[in-house]
Amino acid sequence: MSAETIAVVGGTGNLGAALARRLAKAGHRVVIGSRSAESARAAAENLGLGITGTTNAEAANIGDIVIITVPFAAQGDALREIAPKAAGKIVVDTTVPLVPPKVMRVQLPSEGSAATRAQAVLGAGVTVVSAFHNVAAHKLATDEAVDCDVLVFGDDKDAREKIVRLAKDVGLRGLHGGALANSAAAEALTSVLIFLNRTYSVDGAGIRITGKLIEPGR
Ligand SMILES: NC(=O)c1ccc[n+]([C@@H]2O[C@H](COP(=O)([O-])OP(=O)(O)OC[C@H]3O[C@@H](n4cnc5c(N)ncnc54)[C@H](OP(=O)(O)O)[C@@H]3O)[C@@H](O)[C@H]2O)c1
Repeated sequence: MSAETIAVVGGTGNLGAALARRLAKAGHRVVIGSRSAESARAAAENLGLGITGTTNAEAANIGDIVIITVPFAAQGDALREIAPKAAGKIVVDTTVPLVPPKVMRVQLPSEGSAATRAQAVLGAGVTVVSAFHNVAAHKLATDEAVDCDVLVFGDDKDAREKIVRLAKDVGLRGLHGGALANSAAAEALTSVLIFLNRTYSVDGAGIRITGKLIEPGR
């Protein structure tokens, strides 16, 4: 069991529940949040593995690392709610700025990306890292190997490294993708992946970075 607790805000949903389950399986202490404590507890019980459930604000309060897995339309409200509890912590934003019904079209927000928007809402006292934009939740929800790399973005290299390791715990290859502003590339790519899914009947297209990668610092 790791010393740190990981909170998943919106952890009753597709991506949140799948991440929570894989993180708990990897030995992390995990708490999932919801707008309703009752829903969170029910979802946590369903997931098992010692996962607990509470409100989003309380989960963010308990968590040392806070992962946000809510729809783009809910991102601002969810972040404003947890902001007072997130000071001094790493907040991992997974938001893809999809604007239904045109989810196959790249529609980045005026801030440049959902991740930079998250940083603007949370303020400089919170370290925002973004990741997991290109992985299909329904694949993560299984015990099967998932054929997808995870690009991790953030302006704080140490915080980014922590989330690269967290991606590895989830069973994926996490790779440093550079500054938080670069998150726009992975966020935009998801609309392209959805287009590929529909065009080529793919059950959750993912991304792979090719070439021989040597771990930084070696
Ligand atoms: N699904 C994927 O394959 C995938 C892959 C990569 C990235 N993402 C990103 O991950 C995020 C979550 O996606 P998802 O598919 O897991 O979403 P989801 O299942 O539709 O929703 C996740 C959770 O968000 C909460 N929520 C919904 N509306 C809300 C609101 N107005 N305010 C606060 N919370 C609200 C709900 O929890 P409660 O009702 O319990 O509060 C819900 O269970 C999105 O930003 C998405 O772009 C998803």
